[in-house]
Amino acid sequence: MRVALLTGGGDCPGLNAVIYAAVRKGINHYGDEFIGFLNGWRGVLDNDFIPLTLESTDGIQLTGGTILHSSRTNVKKIPGGIDKVREVLKINKVDALIALGGDDTQSVTEFLSENGVPSVGVPKTIDNDLSGTDATFGYDTAMSIATEAVDRVRTTADSHNRVIVVEVMGRDAGWIAFGAGVAGGADVILVPEKEIDIDHTCALLKHNYDRGKRYGIVVVAEGCHLPEVGQVTGSAQVDSFGHARLSGISEALAELIEKKTGFETRSVNLGHTQRGGVPTAYDRVLGQRYGLYAIDMVHEKKWGRIAVLRGTDITDIPIKESITTSRRLDQRFFDVIADLEAKV
Ligand code: F6P
Repeated sequence: MRVALLTGGGDCPGLNAVIYAAVRKGINHYGDEFIGFLNGWRGVLDNDFIPLTLESTDGIQLTGGTILHSSRTNVKKIPGGIDKVREVLKINKVDALIALGGDDTQSVTEFLSENGVPSVGVPKTIDNDLSGTDATFGYDTAMSIATEAVDRVRTTADSHNRVIVVEVMGRDAGWIAFGAGVAGGADVILVPEKEIDIDHTCALLKHNYDRGKRYGIVVVAEGCHLPEVGQVTGSAQVDSFGHARLSGISEALAELIEKKTGFETRSVNLGHTQRGGVPTAYDRVLGQRYGLYAIDMVHEKKWGRIAVLRGTDITDIPIKESITTSRRLDQRFFDVIADLEAKV
């Protein structure tokens, strides 16, 4: 078969591991040929692609980012977009498409497969919030980077007797905040699933000071809601899927904490550092497992389905099931946060 791959949406460590494994098994096991569209769905619309071979993908499973580059392109919103996609796939004799992406990218994959384009999905996001899968590759790397940042911030917060608020990614779900907050021993962990209780946050920090620990670490997800303010956006711009650019809640929160407690408070926004750099061993392995499974899905003609991790097994479900709602933290995780918090 002649198979096309693309990566859409925010990039994520582990994308290259998926590409590597799909190409490797496709060529060695099935005798497939591969091309990779550049810049997500944009590359399909522009007929912009590169050949993918064993040689050109050698060693990429160890690297971060995506050799195919990425964009947030909503084909559904572009007049004639679906026809253009069909035309480009036909011109290039593409028999099947593997789309690596989060809910936005997969909403396009689903739409295309409903409209007769033979395609399958692989779930990707550092936010770890795709439904139907127990984990997306990239999350473990992002959580590890954020944990290291919390560790680093701790010593300087301690030296200067300060509170430091660390902002991590997580638009709708607090998986990174939860992971880095628990692993990094944060005093306060704030996730988008719950509105911030500023009095409780300050009480937890005061508790430290009253007992002689004269610094505090707060981990906050970018998508958290501040009372009376809501989500904090870095600019008025929205992407082609209508998402606001979230950024800056750590700064707003630090100001509030300093005002309410009198403790010197600073903020740090980890931003895209969480998406950069090499994938962890876990993400390299998970990405390759997803890639191997995806090429099997193509040969089994599982169109409109997405590979998912269930426990320790990779299986597949209809794309629709994975994108209708976000997978968010639930009571089990809120209990972990609450049980580790000081009693105030
Ligand atoms: O990929 C998801 C995500 O990392 C969100 O957590 C974040 O809000 C968004 O991407 C940032 O996207 P961009 O790179 O387009 O600014």
